[in-house]
Amino acid sequence: MAKKIMMIAAMLMSSQVMASPTERWYSDIQVKQGAELFKQNCATCHGQNAEATPNWKQTDANGHYPPPPLNGTAHAWHHDLDLLRRTIREGGIELGGVMQPFKDKLSSGDIDRVIAYFQSKWPDELYQKWAGQFEVTALPSLTDVETALSNSLTRFLRQRLGNVEIGAPQKTAIEGLWQVSLKNGTVYLMEGGKYALIGEVINLESGQKLGQ
Ligand code: HEC
Repeated sequence: MAKKIMMIAAMLMSSQVMASPTERWYSDIQVKQGAELFKQNCATCHGQNAEATPNWKQTDANGHYPPPPLNGTAHAWHHDLDLLRRTIREGGIELGGVMQPFKDKLSSGDIDRVIAYFQSKWPDELYQKWAGQFEVTALPSLTDVETALSNSLTRFLRQRLGNVEIGAPQKTAIEGLWQVSLKNGTVYLMEGGKYALIGEVINLESGQKLGQ
């Protein structure tokens, strides 16, 4: 490509192309940010390390269950990602429980971060069992671009970005750069699947933006 092209971009994710079976859907950064959010919003009930309440099967005098551990020792791992998200978003009151909804307090990205945090407590064996059951995948390889761009990539972006509208991936004018439109912008993906970029791609010769 002869044209000078400048990318004003923030790195969204970077990961090994080859995913091992125990590779998680979330990044270390999400776990770190999730730890803080968990401490502020969830730890009073579910414990600092998501370990409370050990005796989670025992109802109280009102017939309510206590907050279950989320560290893998109770049954949170029976729920897929969407159900975990929904439980946190909507709370448990409508289902006869006592947990408040968090939809006005936490963004969908934040909800994914707290899930990443408590799932980081799950041993590999349990995580694998969960991921296999619900077909949760780590970053897809883009070496086989056509396959990756169909299902797994969309699912992957949704896992990373929350429940956003994701358009069909398209080739851009720049070789090796693909484009996926989201509701509020565009994600650019580098062939090989290692990097995704958000921001604007500008052709400095013409001043034209790629996303237009
Ligand atoms: C006021 C105490 C309280 C707070 C705060 C709270 N929870 Fe809960 N949580 C509960 C209780 C109690 C339940 C059991 C269902 C119910 O009663 O609603 C529960 C259930 C859950 C479940 C379902 C677990 C399963 O095994 O089915 C998840 C997931 C969960 N909470 C995550 C969170 C996260 C993440 C936060 C912080 C953003 C949070 N909770 C904050 C009390 C709380």
